[in-house]
Amino acid sequence: MAYETIIVEVEEGIATITLNRPAVLNALNDKVFNELGEAALSLSADNSVRVVIITGGDKVFAAGADISQMANSTAVDVATREKVSHRAFQLLENLPKPVIAAISGYALGGGCELTLVADVRIAADNAQFGLPEIKLGILPGAGGTQRLPRLIGAGRAKELIFSGDFIKADEALRVGLVNKVVPADQLAAETRKLAKRFASRGAVALRLAKASVNEGLRMDLEAGLEYEHKCFSLLFATEDQKEGMKAFLEKRPAQFQGK
Ligand code: CAA
Repeated sequence: MAYETIIVEVEEGIATITLNRPAVLNALNDKVFNELGEAALSLSADNSVRVVIITGGDKVFAAGADISQMANSTAVDVATREKVSHRAFQLLENLPKPVIAAISGYALGGGCELTLVADVRIAADNAQFGLPEIKLGILPGAGGTQRLPRLIGAGRAKELIFSGDFIKADEALRVGLVNKVVPADQLAAETRKLAKRFASRGAVALRLAKASVNEGLRMDLEAGLEYEHKCFSLLFATEDQKEGMKAFLEKRPAQFQGK
């Protein structure tokens, strides 16, 4: 499918979505949100795709929602538009395969919030994160007040949300906002290395493991454990479970078919 504001490439079962509005530091407008949502749906349905990487390229991840689009918006406009971003971000968050954000340069506002829908975040050492919405007289409206506290805790999230300050990659690592920091010139290679590792695992087990974590976070512990048990039991109906355990006993690498 041809997109205007993102580029989607698939190579060896790994899809890469690259934000592509360099003139405005990949600011996210409705077109981007809609295309991200369409890409999420299409990559979900494509069985040849095992892992998805989201990136802004090597200069900037994204400097937030497009301020020029929002500046003259009414409350009614925003009430409708935010649904557009929520829909896209939920489709990406619930994509039934691992999603890795590869972040170089600024990841601000909606850009930072986009990284939060990924399962794993890898930052280049030049990355900077922040939720500067408060400096515009608004609040993070693409999930930042919800996903960030769940990831790094309410105290640290509130400090970022209330101050609008940026933090550098090493601080993002320290507070648990990113999984790993790598030299900027190695971001693509390191991300791909991890994507390949994920892609070598069984697709059904990955899908249910992701669902178990994501759904479990929305439940109390008891319901979460029950949900996990259902996912666990279901995997014993797959060929991959038979192959994984047989391969272990035969002391050879497993060849998963995603069945
Ligand atoms: N929206 C629209 N355009 C943007 C933008 C944004 N979020 N961020 C940058 N741009 C544009 C600039 O207007 C500029 O365009 P022109 O060349 O036409 O003037 C171009 O991108 C380059 O930006 P700068 O000249 O500002 O670059 P810089 O290197 O001096 O500064 C920056 C970089 C610190 C990231 C600065 O651009 C900046 O502060 N951007 C806005 C960050 C922000 O406030 N993000 C939150 C947006 S609100 C939001 O995201 C709401 C939500 O929760 C969904």
